[in-house]
Amino acid sequence: MAINTKIALITGGSRGLGKNMAIAIAKKGLDVIITYNSKKEEADAVVKEIESLGQKAASLQLNVADSGTFDSFFEEVKTALKETFKTDKFDFLINNAGIGIYNSFIGTTEAEFDQLNNIQFKGPFFITQKALDVMNDGGGIINISTGLARFSSPGYAAYASMKGAIETLTKYQAKELGQRQIKVNVVAPGAIETDFGGGVVRDNEQLNQTLSSITALGRVGLPDDIGGVVAFLCTEDARWINAQRIEVSGGMNL
Ligand SMILES: NC(=O)c1ccc[n+]([C@@H]2O[C@H](COP(=O)([O-])OP(=O)(O)OC[C@H]3O[C@@H](n4cnc5c(N)ncnc54)[C@H](OP(=O)(O)O)[C@@H]3O)[C@@H](O)[C@H]2O)c1
Repeated sequence: MAINTKIALITGGSRGLGKNMAIAIAKKGLDVIITYNSKKEEADAVVKEIESLGQKAASLQLNVADSGTFDSFFEEVKTALKETFKTDKFDFLINNAGIGIYNSFIGTTEAEFDQLNNIQFKGPFFITQKALDVMNDGGGIINISTGLARFSSPGYAAYASMKGAIETLTKYQAKELGQRQIKVNVVAPGAIETDFGGGVVRDNEQLNQTLSSITALGRVGLPDDIGGVVAFLCTEDARWINAQRIEVSGGMNL
């Protein structure tokens, strides 16, 4: 009997955590669509890596801050599904793309607030709304939050608030989409060594040590610590996990 290969769409799959998720998901036997904002070459390299694992893959450009483009983006998704994957729907959506802006609550400008809101909250809200027409029943949505939504660390008031909003949204989505058997969960990474925030966790040795010292497992995270958890949520074994926040931080700020 033919088994239908599931397909995951990951926003921001060109680098960092999204890239790691994409490859981990492919290793579980799913096909993958990734998006990139500006780094097409990196995205194409991820597609090649996934294909070398024996799975199908495609990359599409998407600026999650620009909700006016979402309808045309999903037209491109439909075309890719037809041409590359020989189907018309996908199964898992991972809202991963994001940026950080470091500023105090008092210092945060309206422009910074709007930019964070557009990328971290409004974008995933409406991308998910529009994705539902192109998603099969029985799949899942994974929203990427942060440890900073559980504890406060000065400099992240606006960023962490947007992530807090997506955590609340997750519960509402899980409740409303349950009738379609779509599971909705949050994965909240701790501090991870990527390009995020200018690469500070990776490149600033003092910060890296400070973060390691407040982590039970004694180090900061690496992309490999995250991708496999998201990939697990895209498997049949995770079918009964719904409306949960899974923090993947090595035990930060316990
Ligand atoms: N790293 C951490 O310590 C950490 C901790 C907790 C949560 N997170 C969250 O994890 C997610 C991924 O972060 P990361 O560490 O992987 O960051 P990263 O290495 O900087 O990668 C960011 C990714 O998002 C894409 N992106 C950025 N702005 C975008 C936009 N306006 N529209 C569409 N795509 C956009 C980038 O695309 P291009 O490559 O094309 O620019 C890239 O693929 C974010 O939501 C972040 O908030 C990160």
